[in-house]
Amino acid sequence: MQHFKHIYFIAFLISISAAASAQSPAWTEVAPGVWKATVGKPEAFDLLKAAGSVPNKEAMAAIAKGCFPFAKADIAARVQDGKTYLRFPLQKEEQVYGFGLNFQTVHQRGRILQLHVDHFGGKDNGRTHSPTPFYVSSLGYGVFINAARYLNVYAGAGVRKDSKDPPVAKDRNLDKSWAARPYSDAVEILVPAGGVEVYVFAGPSSLDAVRRFNLFNGGGCLPPRWGLGFTQRVQRLYNADDVKKEAGDFEQKGFPLDFIGLEPGWQSKSYPCTFEWDKTRFPQPQQFVKEMLDKGIRINLWLNPYVSPDASIYKSIEPYTGSHTVWVGAVPDLSMPQARRIFFDQLKKDQVGIGVSGYKIDEVDGYDHYLWPDVATFPSGNSAEQLRQTYGVLAQRYSTDMYRQQNARTFGLVRASNGGASSFPYVIYNDYYNHEDFITALINSGFAGVLWTPEVRASKTGEEWLRRFQTVIFSPMAMINAWSSGTKPWNYPEVAEQVKQLALLRMQMMPYWYTEFAKYHYEGTPPFRAMNLEPGFKQEVKKEAVNENLEQNPYAEAASKEIKDQYMAGEYLLVAPLFTGQTTRKVILPKGKWYDFYTGAYAGNGEVITVTPGLDKIPVYVKDGGIIPMMRAALHAPKAGEVVDLEVRYYGEKQGAYKLYDDDGETFNYEKGAYSWRTITVSKEANGQVKGSITPPVAGKPNTIGKVTFTMMTK
Ligand code: GAL
Repeated sequence: MQHFKHIYFIAFLISISAAASAQSPAWTEVAPGVWKATVGKPEAFDLLKAAGSVPNKEAMAAIAKGCFPFAKADIAARVQDGKTYLRFPLQKEEQVYGFGLNFQTVHQRGRILQLHVDHFGGKDNGRTHSPTPFYVSSLGYGVFINAARYLNVYAGAGVRKDSKDPPVAKDRNLDKSWAARPYSDAVEILVPAGGVEVYVFAGPSSLDAVRRFNLFNGGGCLPPRWGLGFTQRVQRLYNADDVKKEAGDFEQKGFPLDFIGLEPGWQSKSYPCTFEWDKTRFPQPQQFVKEMLDKGIRINLWLNPYVSPDASIYKSIEPYTGSHTVWVGAVPDLSMPQARRIFFDQLKKDQVGIGVSGYKIDEVDGYDHYLWPDVATFPSGNSAEQLRQTYGVLAQRYSTDMYRQQNARTFGLVRASNGGASSFPYVIYNDYYNHEDFITALINSGFAGVLWTPEVRASKTGEEWLRRFQTVIFSPMAMINAWSSGTKPWNYPEVAEQVKQLALLRMQMMPYWYTEFAKYHYEGTPPFRAMNLEPGFKQEVKKEAVNENLEQNPYAEAASKEIKDQYMAGEYLLVAPLFTGQTTRKVILPKGKWYDFYTGAYAGNGEVITVTPGLDKIPVYVKDGGIIPMMRAALHAPKAGEVVDLEVRYYGEKQGAYKLYDDDGETFNYEKGAYSWRTITVSKEANGQVKGSITPPVAGKPNTIGKVTFTMMTK
C-alpha cells in the first residue's frame, strides 16, 4: 500500500511538471519556407479558417531559399490553465515589426500588447483595426499565431530566470546604469485557448518573410484599375440629383473621378441598417447606377452589417444572429452559411445586381460600447471574442466571393481585418484623423498584410488640405471622405490647382500602381511598406550608453530611432511627406543613388538629406535605374481592355528593367491565366540618349498597351 502511494505521488509530480514546463514544439514545412507547429489542441475556428485563403506555393517556391530561423530547442510552448504559452527567442541587436496596424510605433521590441480588434483609440496597445498576430524580425523571418483570440504579447518585455543571457541585477540607489526595463531575450505570447497553430516564415530578407506571409494568405489583392483612380465619398444625405451634380462638377472642373461613395443616407434606415434604397432620395436606383456607369463613375455603398427590425431580411436572418444587438440591430453570425446567404442575397438582388461596384463595410471593429459584448453568444457556437476578431475578415471574404460570382472585381473599404485576409480587395480607414499617425499606419500596414488609406476629410487650412492630399495620392486609395464635411477637392481655392494636379498625377501613374499591386498579388510584396524592408536602409542607431533618466530604456533595440514618416511606394519610389507647419524635413536615403521624382536630379546616396520642397511638392525619390510607366492624365481609369499609350520615365544611370503587368483590368479572368508580364528595358547611351524597349505582347493574352515612348528624366 505504502509502495502504491509512493508511485502515485511520483506520477502526480510528473504531471505537474509536464503542465508547467515548456516543451519545444515539432515543426513541419507546409509550404516553401513556411513551417507549422501545433501546440495543445487548437480550436476549430481560427483566423485562417475564417479567411479561407489558399496559399500560393508556386510563388513562395520562387523566393530565394530561407532556412528555419531558430534553433528549435529555443522555442518553447506549454498549455496551462486553459491557455497556450509560446516563446520565441530574440537576439541582442534584433528589432521586431508588425503585430498589426499600429499607428504610432514601428519598432515593437519592448512593447506589451493585447491584440484585439477595435477602433484605434490613440495609443498603440494592440487594440486596432487589424491586430494581425504576425511579427517580422530585422533578422529576416516572421512568426504568425493562427488564433481568433485576444492575444497577450510581451514583445521582448519579460525577463526570465532561465534566460541564456540574463541581465544583471543592479542597485538603483547608486548605479546610474540601472534600467527600469532590463534586457529581455524573447517574445512571449499567451493565447487564451487550450491549443494553437503557429507558423514560422523564412526570409532570407525581412521583406521575403512578409512576402511569404502574404502569399501564404493567397497573395495580396489585385484591385480593378478603376479602384486605383480617385474616389469621393459624398455627404451622408445626398440624393440622386446631388450625386449627379457633384459628378458633373468633377467633370466640368477637370478633376478625375472613378467612383463615388454613398454614405448612410442611401439606405431607408441606418444604424441599424435595412440594406434597401431610400426611395425618397433614390427613387430609381437602377437607372441612377446605370447613368453613373455610363459617365464612367462607379458606385460604392456604405453599410454596417447590423440588421434593422424594419429590414425586409430581418425575420429570415434573425435565427442566425447573435444574442446581443448593435444599435438595436441584429448581428448576423457571418460564420454561418445560412446568415451569409440571406445577407449577401439581399445585397446581390438590390445593389450588386444593378451594377453597384463595391461597399464600405463600417463598424466591424469596435468601439466596445457599440459592438456586441464578449458575453454575447452566437448560434454557430463560435464565441463573441472569436467573432470580434474575425467579423471584418468574414465580411471581406464573402463580399469578395459575391463579386467573383459576377466576374467583376471590387475595391472597397473596411474598418476591421486580421491575419489571413491579405487577398481581399479592401482598404482600412478610421475616424482618428491624425495625419502623422496616418502615415505611420500606412508604413505598418505592410507588416500586417492589409491596406490602409490616410483619407482626407476636411482641414483647418489650405496648407493642411494640400499636405493631406499629397499623401492620400501616394496611398492605396486616393479618397476624400466628405460624409460629414461635404468638402470637395477644390474647396480650398488657394491650393485648388495643386490639388487638381496631384489628382491627375495619380491617374498618370496608374500603370505603375497597377503593376505594383500585381506584384502584391503574385509575389506578395506590399505596395506600401516600411523603409526597414528596403535593402540598403540603415536607421540612425543611437546607443544609449548610460541611463540618465530612469524612464529611459538603455537597450539599443528600443533606443534606436524608428523611422515612421517616410515609406516605400512600389518598387522604386520613396515618399517623404511633410505635415502642416513643416517647411523642411530630413529624408534618409538608403544606400544606392536616388533621384528626384519630379526633375530627375541626383538627390543622394545612403545619406540623410534635408529638403525644403515648398508647399506644392511632396518629396518623392526614385532609385537608380528606376522605371515609372505613366499614362495620360485621364479623368477616369481605362475601361476593360482599353488600349493605352505609355510614357516610360527612366531615372539615373544604371540600366533598368521593369516587369509590367497587364490584364483586362476588371474581371477575375486573371485567376484563369488571362494576364501577362512584359519587360521594359531602358538604358542610357554613351551620347546621353535614352534607349528603351518593351518585349512584344504575349500571344493569346489580353494586351492593353499601345504606343510606348521613353523619357530620360536624369539629364
Ligand atoms: C463612421 C465612418 C465614417 C462615415 C460615418 C458615417 O463610422 O468611419 O467614415 O462613414 O461612419 O456615419
